[in-house]
Amino acid sequence: MIKEIDLILEQFHSELEQQKTLAETANLKAKYLGKNGLLSALMKNLKELSDEEKKQLGQKSNSAKSVIEKALQQKMNQLEIDQMNQKLQAQAVDFSLRDSLFDRGLNRGGIHPVHSVQREVEDIFLSMGFEVLDGPYIEDSFHNFEALNIPADHPARDMQDTFWFADHQHLLRTHTSTIQVRGMQSRKPPFKFIGPGKVFRCERTDATHEMVFHQLEGMMVAEDLSVANLIYFMKTLLAEIFQKEMEVRLRPGYFPFVEPGFELDIRWKKPDPKKSEQRHSGWLELLPCGMVHPNVLQAGGIDPQKYKGFAFGLGLDRLVMVRHQIDDIRHTHSGDLRFNSQFSL
Ligand code: PHE
Repeated sequence: MIKEIDLILEQFHSELEQQKTLAETANLKAKYLGKNGLLSALMKNLKELSDEEKKQLGQKSNSAKSVIEKALQQKMNQLEIDQMNQKLQAQAVDFSLRDSLFDRGLNRGGIHPVHSVQREVEDIFLSMGFEVLDGPYIEDSFHNFEALNIPADHPARDMQDTFWFADHQHLLRTHTSTIQVRGMQSRKPPFKFIGPGKVFRCERTDATHEMVFHQLEGMMVAEDLSVANLIYFMKTLLAEIFQKEMEVRLRPGYFPFVEPGFELDIRWKKPDPKKSEQRHSGWLELLPCGMVHPNVLQAGGIDPQKYKGFAFGLGLDRLVMVRHQIDDIRHTHSGDLRFNSQFSL
């Protein structure tokens, strides 16, 4: 009978080799190992055997069983891999086709220059341990004004012409400083984060003003912070963006939510000498910033006796204009393909 088991094994192996599909292979399992399978059938007539023979046979049959099981599993795995490979081959993309499509005049997409600058700046701050936060476009006046130390009768409300909703409670955020308020309210110091996004002002447009533009807010709050820390982070940012150490200067600037408040300028030379009389030569105003006003910390639920903060508001459109020598901010939203296609991939 031991021989018969060997024969069954032999038969199994030769059958297994011929299997081409998973379903067929699964049938083999029933044929050899099932309740009415070949092995079980054999084990049913053990009556005439001695105990010793029964034992030997039992062992033999068990080892045959495990050989069969293993071989089946291996075969199934192999078939699965083959199937997957066939599928992948059928779906394979011919990348050489892509270029020939573009050669035939199809437009190639690209990332908008404002977004690629935004991503770059996000990466720089992420590498310095900042979080990246988001906030809603539609805000209430608390987050856009009051919490930022701009009460209803404050003249600074006129600094930012606002798109109000009919209820006179809600508005389109005029700056990303709203993200400062939400960020402070939802975390405990020390923390540091940035918040990029669109902002909206009800303004007449010209070469340097758009109704919709992009800012990137930054805020850091900790126990011992000073203007020196602010300058360090700004210089690191600018060195990364422009790939060289930038000369900066701080001028006093007024924003109700920072005290002291600054305009940070960079030393900037226009490459085109014919345009040297333009206002962008010499010092270029790039970045309003300052130490967070105690009232603002308080509105964000932070003890101004214990903690200090700095904040800044980077104008992303401005940065794109400087970098790509764009003379009119309105190009960036024009949807003009002649402009956009300069930035395609
Ligand atoms: N929120 C200000 C603006 O849009 C910019 C700013 C941000 C100034 C942070 C100082 C600190 O005009």
